[in-house]
Amino acid sequence: MKDCSSIFSIFGATGDLTKRKLLPAFYFLEQEIQLKEKFNLVCIARKEKSSEQYKKEAAESIRKFSRIKVKDDVLERLLSRINYFRLEFSDKSGYERLRQYIENVSKEKSSHCERIFYLAVPHNLLGGIVDNLKWAGLAERQNENKPYCRIMFEKPFGHDLKSAKELNISITRVFDEKQIYRIDHYMAKELVQNLLVLRFANSIFEPLWNRHYIGHIQITVAETLGVESRGDYYEKAGAIRDVMQNHMMQLLTLVAMDAPKTMGADDVKNEKVKVLRSISLNKNELGKNLVIGQYGKGKINGKSIAAYTDEPDVSKNSSTETYAALKVHVKNKMWKDVPFYLRTGKRLKDKSTEIAIVYKEAPFGLFHKLRPEKNMLVIRVQPYEGITIQFNAKVPGNKVIIDNVTMDFCHECKFGPNSPEAYERLLYDVMAGDQTLFTRWDEVENAWKIIDVITKQIKNMKPIKYEAGNWGPKEAEELIEKDNRKWIEPKRPSYADLLDK
Ligand code: BG6
Repeated sequence: MKDCSSIFSIFGATGDLTKRKLLPAFYFLEQEIQLKEKFNLVCIARKEKSSEQYKKEAAESIRKFSRIKVKDDVLERLLSRINYFRLEFSDKSGYERLRQYIENVSKEKSSHCERIFYLAVPHNLLGGIVDNLKWAGLAERQNENKPYCRIMFEKPFGHDLKSAKELNISITRVFDEKQIYRIDHYMAKELVQNLLVLRFANSIFEPLWNRHYIGHIQITVAETLGVESRGDYYEKAGAIRDVMQNHMMQLLTLVAMDAPKTMGADDVKNEKVKVLRSISLNKNELGKNLVIGQYGKGKINGKSIAAYTDEPDVSKNSSTETYAALKVHVKNKMWKDVPFYLRTGKRLKDKSTEIAIVYKEAPFGLFHKLRPEKNMLVIRVQPYEGITIQFNAKVPGNKVIIDNVTMDFCHECKFGPNSPEAYERLLYDVMAGDQTLFTRWDEVENAWKIIDVITKQIKNMKPIKYEAGNWGPKEAEELIEKDNRKWIEPKRPSYADLLDK
């Protein structure tokens, strides 16, 4: 099967994701010679246009969004693999034409070539597309004697537990779990992948990673961006479905999971699912531990920002949350009494994804009177990828005065710039058949179980307005301050100036 053709079909090929992320990621793979000789892209969307026209637009997107310098010859090579096919996603007969088109491009019977279908379309269309692929003979269960057939789902996978289950039932009628790749692009971020290495390959961290030494944990996913052109989607999603259900739950499970038996995909996922199962929220707890907000107008970096309700496709009296802060407990032996504080929001002061592990006070209290700061480990996922350790040191002089100091690991200084873009890694992995960085059904299912309780609760809550360019509503400060703690404001690390040059 080595020299059979490989066809990668993208549904939603004129959308933002394809332009900004997928096409530039394929450009990178082309440059790195990671696409096989008989590899072709079939870009599928509803708009009427020719392949030539699509290629022109694709070239523009790649030039605009590629993170590496675009070379004309590499671009030409990639464009020669690109084909455009117009399809009304609900039109069954169109899939028969699609099969013929694919066979034409690959010069092989469709079942004789490797097939990947990437579904970057609204979640209500997913089930129908899968059924139609099956109907047209394009999709089938994996047979070891045949080239692979895989399917990728962009998030969100469902809108709630019920719709996610229905969707899963309909796709597993056609595909086995081993053929299904559910995307959460946070999993492919370098520093997220680094988390397990940090935890389990370092004897200075691993033994201390539990309730005996850690006082609390904060996870922040903050953005300065608003909803851009996605008002229609975001109105139905909100911050809790858009970011908390997936990216934040993934970060939480990687931080809280116990050591897996091996680093194999299933062993790691088994441990992650145990964490999700140990989070049970009840109405009473949520009443005290959840704050939601919505951005009003404000300023970010000196630029005036419109209120959420003035964004295109957003209702003037929308009650969609663009911010959420939540305190949860992982109710198991490892984390008993250790709160996890999560917050995410759009139009906040800075873009920053960070995990802060805040340790308990040093035992014995020898320096207690000098009020030393708590030790802290900060995993900086983005920007300025790196890890910071904060500890206490003596200030030079006759008296004992304590100050907190930091040691910074700058990822880029050590390993060079250009960590792979998440999508480069994900596209590479799907072609290699590696599911490690994709979400298994029970991860999605258990995350929705948690989120369903929250979304039910917020039906009776009104988001609190916060000014764009702040850190969210002041009620979110109170949520953590009542536990005598403070949100840790993302700081520029010592090496930031170096990287900005
Ligand atoms: C997406 C959300 O999954 O993640 C967006 O739908 C959000 O609303 C984005 O902006 C953030 O991703 P990143 O990689 O920019 O942190």
